[in-house]
Amino acid sequence: MAQLEQIAAPGSEWWRSAVIYQIYPRSFADASGDGIGDLPGITSRLDDLKDLGVDAIWLSPFMTSPQRDAGYDVADYRDVDPLFGTLADFDEMLAQAHNRGIRVIVDLVPNHSSDQHVWFQEALKAGPGSRERARYVFRDGRGENGELPPNNWESVFGGGMWERVTEADGTPGQWYLHIFDATQPDFDWTNEEVREEFRSILRFWLDRGVDGFRVDVAHGMVKEAGLPDYAPVADADSMGGREDNVPYWGQEEVHEIYRDWHRVLAEYDGDRALCGEAWLPTLAKTALWVRPDEMHQTFNFPYLMTPWDAKALGDIIRESLDEFGKVGAPSTWVLSNHDVVRHATRLALTAENPQGEGIGPLTPNKPDAAIGLARARAATALMLALPGSSYLYQGEELGLPEAMEIPDEFRQDPTWFRTNGKRYGRDGCRVPLPWEAEAPAFGFNHTGASWLPQPAEWATYARDVEAADPASTLSLYKQMLAARRAHGFGSGSLVWEDAGPDAVAFRRGDIHVVSNLGTEPIELGEGVTFELKSQPFEGTALPVDTTAWFRRS
Ligand code: NOJ
Repeated sequence: MAQLEQIAAPGSEWWRSAVIYQIYPRSFADASGDGIGDLPGITSRLDDLKDLGVDAIWLSPFMTSPQRDAGYDVADYRDVDPLFGTLADFDEMLAQAHNRGIRVIVDLVPNHSSDQHVWFQEALKAGPGSRERARYVFRDGRGENGELPPNNWESVFGGGMWERVTEADGTPGQWYLHIFDATQPDFDWTNEEVREEFRSILRFWLDRGVDGFRVDVAHGMVKEAGLPDYAPVADADSMGGREDNVPYWGQEEVHEIYRDWHRVLAEYDGDRALCGEAWLPTLAKTALWVRPDEMHQTFNFPYLMTPWDAKALGDIIRESLDEFGKVGAPSTWVLSNHDVVRHATRLALTAENPQGEGIGPLTPNKPDAAIGLARARAATALMLALPGSSYLYQGEELGLPEAMEIPDEFRQDPTWFRTNGKRYGRDGCRVPLPWEAEAPAFGFNHTGASWLPQPAEWATYARDVEAADPASTLSLYKQMLAARRAHGFGSGSLVWEDAGPDAVAFRRGDIHVVSNLGTEPIELGEGVTFELKSQPFEGTALPVDTTAWFRRS
């Protein structure tokens, strides 16, 4: 751990300022060659991440799972799925990451398990009223013979939120709740047995040495008592409503769980951290997740969802710093993850293609790739100059766009199936990474197998191609991360500046940061010395869709 101590300045916990890189294990690097990424693959590429300059990695789930929702359906929380390797492979990956001074956060999925989890299988067998059923949310149906679901809630993935079971005697029986797929039954978090089990799971991974957890659906674990009917009136964002008072999101009682977990983590050395995945309608509500005795971080999804608009972006940054500041927490910043359209594509989306639908072969008027990439580079250059912790999603350092032409037969996102193909879902941001332009599967493995097809044009985004090109997105990311570290941008505060209505502008020490979100170049004036440009330009007029970091004499 000696190397890790150097990451954080004395007296400030590492997670307050860290750049955390999300690894989606099935698509990162595949050592076995079966077409699905794995833990030895991650270990083999840690030097590339060290070279990139990140402080920590977050791994999406690799625990035992039938993979009905790409591992977010866990059947055994204390083991590694054979697809990804073994516990020994995990320990090796963790040790190798720590040797390089890279911290490791793992994904914990406490809202629901897989229907293959031993507890759920026991619940099916045990029958109504049993201790086994009380670990999940089983209810009798409505209607004369219980043939109607207990309420009208709709799954985030489409369709109803309840599934009816067949009892041991072969008769139609109770219903169980699933916010997501029917293979993902929700736990009942009012049950102390569930709480105790998860304390033990936390300790299992903390004892192995993980630096923290990204907590899946951290806003959904407690449901309003009585499970009242509710129908959303606004379109949902990726993983939650835009409305307040949704009976399965953001209930007050959920916070007691995180206070409890905070105490568990505090028993361990080394600033272990919890980061909540909580899609909530406002930043004020989001900040409740990171009060001093709860989680350490929570994703800033309102920032991620902000359109490419100077006023909207400036406002959301101000509000973020303000709301998180009120509870003494750093803001986090994030532009892409495995649930949203990659920001190199999303930032060029038009209103007719809302991001929650995904993008596929039949989507009309697909976003322009060049505009999307320019905006993505500018947006990231702005983000990495902000105080607080930033999350990156694998492949964004290559400027990868969303894969928009995946043939239907390859699709795996349950959203696609549960909406009968109405929503393409999230497969387009999950395609395996290109490492080497000339190798099979672009170096994802040595066999050429790939669980989702890689677009042929991704050869130009391959890491080896970009590493050799000083103007590439990869070179820009390395430059940004090194400069951010050198200037200590992750900590401290910013001073707002005025560069006109189409700009977001602020100063960090003597470095000025300006993004142009308008339609005309912005003249930066005399005496400018550039430290960094999100795309090359001559002179002092900042082009549209561009960010620059510079000093003034
Ligand atoms: C949020 C995860 O990020 C997403 O990928 C998953 O489908 C749902 N939670 C359900 O676990």
